[in-house]
Amino acid sequence: MKALVLGGDGFCGWPTSLHLAAEGYAVTIADNLSRRAIADDLGAPSLTPIRSIEDRVTAARNVGDVQFSHLDVTDPVALKALLGTLEPDVIVHFAEQRSAPYSMLGDAQRRYTVANNVNGTNTLFSALVELGQRPHVVHLGTMGVYGYSDDLGELQEGYLDVRVAQTGRDVTIGYPANPGSIYHLTKCLDHTLMQFYAKNWQFQITDLHQGIVWGTDSEITSSDEALINRFDYDGEYGTVLNRLVSQAAVGHPLTVYGTGGQSRAFIHISDTARCVHLATGAPPDPGAQVQVFNQVAEVRNVGALARMIAERTGAEVSYLDNPRKEAAANQLRVSNAGLRSLGFEPRTLEDSLMDEISATVGRYKDRLNRDVIFSKARW
Ligand SMILES: NC(=O)c1ccc[n+]([C@@H]2O[C@H](COP(=O)([O-])OP(=O)(O)OC[C@H]3O[C@@H](n4cnc5c(N)ncnc54)[C@H](O)[C@@H]3O)[C@@H](O)[C@H]2O)c1
Repeated sequence: MKALVLGGDGFCGWPTSLHLAAEGYAVTIADNLSRRAIADDLGAPSLTPIRSIEDRVTAARNVGDVQFSHLDVTDPVALKALLGTLEPDVIVHFAEQRSAPYSMLGDAQRRYTVANNVNGTNTLFSALVELGQRPHVVHLGTMGVYGYSDDLGELQEGYLDVRVAQTGRDVTIGYPANPGSIYHLTKCLDHTLMQFYAKNWQFQITDLHQGIVWGTDSEITSSDEALINRFDYDGEYGTVLNRLVSQAAVGHPLTVYGTGGQSRAFIHISDTARCVHLATGAPPDPGAQVQVFNQVAEVRNVGALARMIAERTGAEVSYLDNPRKEAAANQLRVSNAGLRSLGFEPRTLEDSLMDEISATVGRYKDRLNRDVIFSKARW
């Protein structure tokens, strides 16, 4: 099986590419390295000393068949040339600007996030139409497309069974989109684009609505220094748990927005790689509606997480005015039945895994730039 991993140099894409290679896929990573460039611009390069993509790929050849193409997914000429040569069986699409706070920093970041994410997805499918290729496309979406509310019960996977008030008929509709940032909005737009491509051109598409990813390494990335995964801790790109653990490691108060009453869905980075692998092997029928799986291990309350880390480390918790427009507190229940039916057994937030992140952060804490701990985005 030939897998093309778009965005395979990133936090989720790198361990997933290695996992697929270890499972016997011939993996081609395509990435424009924009994440590395943005991190440098923000003064917040990865806390872990990730290697150049060339060194990474050389080391990855001990794991399996891994190639690299320096390519921008929004460039139709380059993308068509690669697809034409490669003819992949499956494409995993991670290649998007993925920070909600970054997408809300200002005019340039709003426009970049929409142009990069939506244009990339459209360029991919349009190229596949032109080339007559129909690989299974697995796209990374986000739980944030649903909003964070319990009003419609447990969050179903992409669709909702409802009774229409006017006709009394029972129908299944797409789950109402309720994005909370420009970034989340792009994932809703991607989803609508993909529904149209699936219906009109008989694609097989899976959209993985992923929770907040925590942790840093998988078994494979920790097996060799040259394979180490990136770790973001800054206010814009650090995902909440990784951010809090990093703050504790350098004696900074744990920054919690508002009351910390927000409940969010989480998944460990090694589960991301396993779930994507499971999803690649289970395409929907050609032309079927986009298959949606909630790629989530568990739901946790942000304030409770901060208190748990504070207890373990002796750090203080500092409650800041919430810079975001979001409910001060919410309930959340999430179905992950689809991936579970394929064999997903979630790793939950246990101490041993927390110790692993603390150890990584402890090893590299001299590289941490305290000036980037606070998010500059306000909305
Ligand atoms: N990290 C999370 O907590 C999380 C949660 C839910 C969903 N996701 C989704 O998973 C995907 C990967 O996230 P991540 O955390 O690995 O992000 P990341 O920024 O670390 O990785 C994204 C990769 O895509 C590349 N890229 C971006 N635009 C590109 C383009 N136009 N052409 C080629 N390459 C491009 C970047 O250089 C980077 O290597 C994203 O789509 C994100 O929205 C991530």
